[in-house]
Amino acid sequence: MSQRIAIFISGSGSNAERIIAHFQNHQSIQVVMVLSNNAEAQGLQRAARLNIPTQVFNKIQFRESDEVIQILKTAGVTHVVLAGFLWLMPPNFIETFPHRIINIHPALLPKFGGKGMYGMRVHEAVKAAGETETGITIHEVDARYDEGKILSQQKCAIEKADTPAQIALKVQQLEHQYYPAIIEKWITSL
Ligand code: GRF
Repeated sequence: MSQRIAIFISGSGSNAERIIAHFQNHQSIQVVMVLSNNAEAQGLQRAARLNIPTQVFNKIQFRESDEVIQILKTAGVTHVVLAGFLWLMPPNFIETFPHRIINIHPALLPKFGGKGMYGMRVHEAVKAAGETETGITIHEVDARYDEGKILSQQKCAIEKADTPAQIALKVQQLEHQYYPAIIEKWITSL
């Protein structure tokens, strides 16, 4: 059976772009749409360029109705991939897609996770804590921020002189290298 991915983004969408590219021409897994809470998200343009349909929604549609879930169901979505999506997934999503929602966090959870820990704030906190390594965590999504079952972690070293921006770059390289392949492994092993 063919598996159908919807990617949720809030910003740049560089991971979404790599994921779309990874599954182009895949035999049994397809990215069928990219959704965002942010109409200005650069990732929506990246998706459109790659001929992936896009959809923007607001808080009421997302949190106070089943509207977004209905869109996913109509498109036959089987798996939800979060790639830089900043809103907490409401319980009706978790119930509709149990163990079928995945996220990437730009640090080694359980450290440097939770509400408000996103983007450069994560790398600034890692730097301030004097960590000698950081990395990425790919995990299943449950009803809390950054707390679902960990599927994969990849690490990189931090040099003393690294700035938060340099740390961010190293982490982003890991994300691009690993997230698409881990998603594929996760879907095919479910
Ligand atoms: C990534 O660092 C990811 O770990 C986090 O949000 C960022 C998204 O980057 N969840 P991009 O929009 O894919 O470029």
